[in-house]
Amino acid sequence: MAFPKNLIQTLLFFFSLLHLSLASFTPTDNYLINSGSNTNTSFFTIRSFLSDSSKPGSSFLSTDRSISISDPNPSPDSPALYNTARVFPIGGSYKFQVTTKGTHFIRLHFAPFKASSFNLRSAKFRVLINGFSVMNSFSTSSVVVKEFILKIDDPVLEISFLPSKASGFGFVNAVEVFSAPNDYIMDQGTKLVIPNSAQIFSNLSSQVLETVHRINVGGSKLTPFNDTLWRTWVVDDNYLLLRAAARRAWTTHSPNYQNGGATREIAPDNVYMTAQEMDRDNQELQARFNISWGFQVDEKRVLHLVRLHFCDIVSSSLNQLYFNVFINEYLAYKDVDLSTLTFHVLASPLYIDFVAESDRSGMLRISVGPSDLSNPARVNALLNGVEIMRILSPVSSEVVSGKRNVVWIVVGSVLGGFVFLSLFFLCVLCLCRRKNNKTRSSESTGWTPLRRFRGSSNSRTTERTVSSSGYHTLRISFAELQSGTNNFDKSLVIGVGGFGMVFKGSLKDNTKVAVKRGSPGSRQGLPEFLSEITILSKIRHRHLVSLVGYCEEQSEMILVYEYMDKGPLKSHLYGSSNPPLSWKQRLEVCIGAARGLHYLHTGSSQGIIHRDIKSTNILLDNNYVAKVADFGLSRSGPCIDETHVSTGVKGSFGYLDPEYFRRQQLTDKSDVYSFGVVLFEVLCARPAVDPLLVREQVNLAEWAIEWQRKGMLDQIVDPNIADEIKPCSLKKFAETAEKCCADYGVDRPTIGDVLWNLEHVLQLQESGPLNNPEEVYGDVTDSGTARQGPSSGSNTDRDYGDGTSGIISSSQVFSQLMTNAGR
Ligand SMILES: *[C@@H]1O[C@H](CO)[C@@H](O)[C@H](O)[C@H]1NC(C)=O
Ligand SMILES: *[C@@H]1O[C@H](CO)[C@@H](O)[C@H](O)[C@H]1NC(C)=O
Ligand SMILES: *[C@@H]1O[C@H](CO)[C@@H](O)[C@H](O)[C@H]1NC(C)=O
Ligand SMILES: *[C@@H]1O[C@H](CO)[C@@H](O)[C@H](O)[C@H]1NC(C)=O
Repeated sequence: MAFPKNLIQTLLFFFSLLHLSLASFTPTDNYLINSGSNTNTSFFTIRSFLSDSSKPGSSFLSTDRSISISDPNPSPDSPALYNTARVFPIGGSYKFQVTTKGTHFIRLHFAPFKASSFNLRSAKFRVLINGFSVMNSFSTSSVVVKEFILKIDDPVLEISFLPSKASGFGFVNAVEVFSAPNDYIMDQGTKLVIPNSAQIFSNLSSQVLETVHRINVGGSKLTPFNDTLWRTWVVDDNYLLLRAAARRAWTTHSPNYQNGGATREIAPDNVYMTAQEMDRDNQELQARFNISWGFQVDEKRVLHLVRLHFCDIVSSSLNQLYFNVFINEYLAYKDVDLSTLTFHVLASPLYIDFVAESDRSGMLRISVGPSDLSNPARVNALLNGVEIMRILSPVSSEVVSGKRNVVWIVVGSVLGGFVFLSLFFLCVLCLCRRKNNKTRSSESTGWTPLRRFRGSSNSRTTERTVSSSGYHTLRISFAELQSGTNNFDKSLVIGVGGFGMVFKGSLKDNTKVAVKRGSPGSRQGLPEFLSEITILSKIRHRHLVSLVGYCEEQSEMILVYEYMDKGPLKSHLYGSSNPPLSWKQRLEVCIGAARGLHYLHTGSSQGIIHRDIKSTNILLDNNYVAKVADFGLSRSGPCIDETHVSTGVKGSFGYLDPEYFRRQQLTDKSDVYSFGVVLFEVLCARPAVDPLLVREQVNLAEWAIEWQRKGMLDQIVDPNIADEIKPCSLKKFAETAEKCCADYGVDRPTIGDVLWNLEHVLQLQESGPLNNPEEVYGDVTDSGTARQGPSSGSNTDRDYGDGTSGIISSSQVFSQLMTNAGR
């Protein structure tokens, strides 16, 4: 059956329209003025600049004392927009209604020409934006476009032009005022980290920024045609300090934009599709060297926002690229690991904001160079784009008092909240989503480079690269497992469950492993077993227990996992002889587990709901790095774990999402609920359910939330950590846990938000005041746990039993394995 050809053409046309609309951004406020002109003019043919000389009342001009002039001898290659100007002999201003408060772009075009009455080259004037002086004693003899980015909270925006001396005058050729995309400059959830200092400064979006440089590193010049915010990006050649060090890199594939990373509004595709990388073939250079750029900036000590754009277009697979970033010789970001920062998606764009101070040299230097983590055969570093913006407004004196030449690193959390855009994008995406129907929250994710400063994860050694050839490479022979477990020696059994027994064992290369052996006769689920393995084998993450291999010989079904030395989180909280974890360790464990869960929900090719998050399914390796275990096996479809168990119970009493009972539908927010219970467990060091306690204490979540609502949660904190935990960190942690345990899924944060909040808790614990949480909470805004994203619709509609078996539920082999291993 064939579609009529013209129908296909119509559809194609429709899709191309969708793509076109995807590529453009429509600002809510959008004023484009062709100053001093009687006619409307288009600039770069795409946007229409309106005449400012229309009838009184409809004009944006607030005074009548300005003069329109036009260039008597316009040069043929100068745009029509620049052939007229408005002159302000005694000062005057434009006024615009601001319909949407927030960050706006203001661009002022100055193209001086000589008319009979005025030579614009001799003009000298000031420009004020709502009374704030952005330009002083300005004069120019060539075309200049000034761009300011600032938050406007007043209903009116006034741009004033005031002559610098009595006999002088001001002028302008064109004015652009338009709303920036939401979160273009992050404030909420944005942190300012000063090395050797614990200051928190979350006020970047309140600063007035002036764009000084905007560079498409390694690429071609981009004009307003190529940019959804009509920016101009210039090439980097003239800024490279040693051209021999750099080599252009480019790709023809569009960047893999992800929620939480950069967007096309942050920088257009082309910025991320081109870069400079180390020219390692250059024989004259040492093996290790930096690529450096120098940018002219103010010679005075002025703070600059340095926004660096990255997209790993040079690696052939994940985890190949590690590099350092220096600003003014200062190590601004050590061991940038784009694979991790982008949640293990290659060629996914992101940006990192830094704030650096200019010095008397008048040059701001940016270098990227190899990290010690790099594989010597793959030493490389890259940079895709640079924006440098001068911070014009006086920053709070506290921050300025910092050390000279210090680089402040502002970590844009790039938490979502692109409300306007997201809604629009979401609609369009829903329409044209083709290959993958995983619903992601429009504003989820909380990747934050901040974690890199804590050096909390040192588990790189346990990461493996998986060959793309799929699960066949994971096949392990029965003989090897037989010898590695001493022929399945009963003394090596570390767990028993529905699926069979779990043995501690080792492979030929002495890797310690946990071997889950299906009970004989459970082979009826073989096809499902194999398809699950295909999926599981592709899930690799630092915070997920990896499948090492499997065996399906001699009517056996065996799964082999990495062995986790320190066992389950639970055994480090209570009920064992292990020394209690410190509060910081607990936070790091929670952050790691959240990161693993986040990857399951959003990072893998199909959103996976864990369905059984609990403290026995969070395992610790030798370095106490947390990894989530026992995921994926019952992702969808027939479940191998259930071939043996009739109830189909998944999920454990005390951790189960109450909404599940109401709606009979499991979503990723069900995992968030369970994770909230784990958070309380970590805080209070008692089981999620303890039937031996009095009735109101049996269920941990209910009990803890009751104390939390009374504002007395500190009363039930684990005595082992009560002295150590700072009130501000406790407060934030408790709020996060409480939100996770909200009755309705929509009221719960996404795991990405939880992750971000936990990072924040750790930050507060390390740098917050010792007491008086209010002080801290005064201006640290919640990064969005209150925001609601659509939760992933789950396709798992399986019945739960009554879930009363907290210990021997069907797919908890692994948790039991670890419970026992911990002893
Ligand atoms: C310019 O465009 C505006 C809006 O489209 C219109 O109202 C106005 O009449 C036009 N002015 C001229 C001079 O064409
Ligand atoms: C942020 O900066 C603006 C302008 O410098 C200032 O008025 C405001 O009080 C600051 N807010 C906070 C929370 O520091
Ligand atoms: C930028 O836009 C112009 C005009 O549409 C086009 O010719 C050029 O190829 C574009 N450049 C890039 C890098 O996309
Ligand atoms: C890169 O530049 C930084 C800052 O100037 C310097 O400290 C570092 O040693 C350089 N690295 C290499 C490999 O040259």
